[in-house]
Amino acid sequence: MGLLDDRVAVITGAGRGIGRACALTFVREGAKVVINDLDEEPLAEAKAACEALRPGSAATHKGSVADRSTTDELMKFAVQQFGKLDVLVNNAGVTRDRMSHLMSDEQWDLVIAVNLTGTFNCIRSAAPYLRDVAKAELERDGQPRYHRKIVNFFSTAAIRGNPGQINYTAAKMGNVGITRTVAQEWARFWVNVNAVAPGFTNTRLTAAKGKGDELGIPEEQRQSMLTRIPMARFGEPEDIANAVLFFASPLSDYVTGQTINVSGGLQIP
Ligand SMILES: NC(=O)c1ccc[n+]([C@@H]2O[C@H](COP(=O)([O-])OP(=O)(O)OC[C@H]3O[C@@H](n4cnc5c(N)ncnc54)[C@H](O)[C@@H]3O)[C@@H](O)[C@H]2O)c1
Repeated sequence: MGLLDDRVAVITGAGRGIGRACALTFVREGAKVVINDLDEEPLAEAKAACEALRPGSAATHKGSVADRSTTDELMKFAVQQFGKLDVLVNNAGVTRDRMSHLMSDEQWDLVIAVNLTGTFNCIRSAAPYLRDVAKAELERDGQPRYHRKIVNFFSTAAIRGNPGQINYTAAKMGNVGITRTVAQEWARFWVNVNAVAPGFTNTRLTAAKGKGDELGIPEEQRQSMLTRIPMARFGEPEDIANAVLFFASPLSDYVTGQTINVSGGLQIP
């Protein structure tokens, strides 16, 4: 028996990093997963890793969450592949760091489009399968058959504020607003909406940044961050996936509109 037996999940940006760890954790717990990402190779690798755990457990979908027609297709694809949709994990994210006064329109627009509008796009595209199906059950049977789940992502850097990330922190805190709003709108349909804030987690977003790299963090900043983590280590993608699993599973059926930091005890002023 797994915590997600017979559940179908869409996980965005799941070719790499935290999203891939979520896909593997979900499959281990019995789910079928649709792995969305922009990039072909990580998609194929993530699918192969899931299928190695359980054949038939994974399908891939290539496309950007920033594009509305793509997110419509993504949710439809999940239902065509696996018959329904139960869990949506809005994990896709990207950074383009620059001090506020120097940030370009392109850097602002991309980060807002992926991290914030992407969450909205996916929720609205999933509404027919998460909300409307539950509403029909409520009207027919007096209550939805079970709780369906949305897990959004924000960030401890956004709670704290982070020099060089005006675009990212704005987008991520926007996801807290989305979480609290949709949680209230869809509570009576038993669609739980919660959000996870990873602390400093080992992925390419936090790898030591080389000269000219678009992603990553300067090594000096990484080391100074480490000194502020009481558990004295960076997080691993699996640490975050375990919190996402809680919000995706029946263990959290009476929890909605909530946020959790998964950050090794990092104190946020
Ligand atoms: N790593 C951290 O320390 C940290 C901290 C706080 C929050 N987060 C958040 O966790 C989530 C996962 O980040 P990660 O560290 O695993 O990053 P990652 O870069 O390892 O993985 C993110 C994935 O999202 C995909 N992606 C990017 N833009 C996309 C788009 N438009 N549509 C679909 N997929 C897209 C990328 O191709 C990549 O595979 C993000 O929302 C990120 O902001 C990470």
